[in-house]
Amino acid sequence: MNKIRHFLTVFDLTAGEIAEVLKLALDTKKNGPDRGAASGKVLGLLFEKPSTRTRVSFEAAMFSLGGNVTFLSSRDLQLRRGEPLKDTARVLSRYLHCLAVRTFGQEVVEKLARWSSIPVINGLTDQHHPCQALSDVMTVMEKKGDELGRLKIAWVGDGNNVANSWIQAASRLSFRLVLACPPGYEPAEEILSEARAVASAPIEVTNDPVEAVTGADVVNTDVWASMGQEDETEQRKEVFMPYQVNAGLMRHAKDDAIVLHCLPAHRGEEITDEVLEGPWSVVWDQAENKMHIQRALVQWLLKKSD
Ligand code: CP
Ligand code: NVA
Repeated sequence: MNKIRHFLTVFDLTAGEIAEVLKLALDTKKNGPDRGAASGKVLGLLFEKPSTRTRVSFEAAMFSLGGNVTFLSSRDLQLRRGEPLKDTARVLSRYLHCLAVRTFGQEVVEKLARWSSIPVINGLTDQHHPCQALSDVMTVMEKKGDELGRLKIAWVGDGNNVANSWIQAASRLSFRLVLACPPGYEPAEEILSEARAVASAPIEVTNDPVEAVTGADVVNTDVWASMGQEDETEQRKEVFMPYQVNAGLMRHAKDDAIVLHCLPAHRGEEITDEVLEGPWSVVWDQAENKMHIQRALVQWLLKKSD
């Protein structure tokens, strides 16, 4: 048996492996999925936070491969009554073939992976959202071509889980990433230094959104208060308002710049309705691509771990 592969952060895949997953996603988007690739296989979705896109795109992806899914709200599991993660992981591994998890701490997915004999996929933690970064990169490739090294990609807003996964993607795939975050909300230094240590293109951090967006090909943003930070919403609104992605800020980007947002969006906060609904926005294609990437990822992981 091969070593079980997990996808807990972007760094769990090499650049070559990411390229394989991206190619599979782009090919199956164009030519249709291999409808028998997951026949007889079951994907579990263990979610401790709400989700629209990640849950439904994994479900649709698995069905399109001829597989099945079971949705496991943590509310309904014995986990809620204190059953250890290591026991849950070993039991679920006897029923399922792959497990996607959305939770709070990264240590939860790490522990599940350590005790699972099936691939574990991070469907978002407080620290990382690696599936999101891959589907976002796929969207950039569709819109701007696959020479990512020629692009300037800006991140405007919170140095959060999605930003961390973008930092790792920039490092692995060698493109220039400039993040503009308010003072005190920059990505964690350990994420930056680990990514920069192996990056061949600059990963820059500034407090100036205009600097980040000037000449950018891609402008990416996300909510100011992530799931689990609801108590900070009002205070964050004040701090982050200068980082709103609006038409004024977009005037500094290239004329043909695109705007990404992983969604759900808060119009009038991190992004204006004018930008989200305007010519820059590719967010609906971006949302669709979650399904293509997750299908490719499940297919790839099942094959590697066979
Ligand atoms: N972008 C994203 O992960 O959306 P959901 O929270 O709806 O899954
Ligand atoms: N940063 C956001 C992403 C939602 C898909 C959050 O964690 O809530």
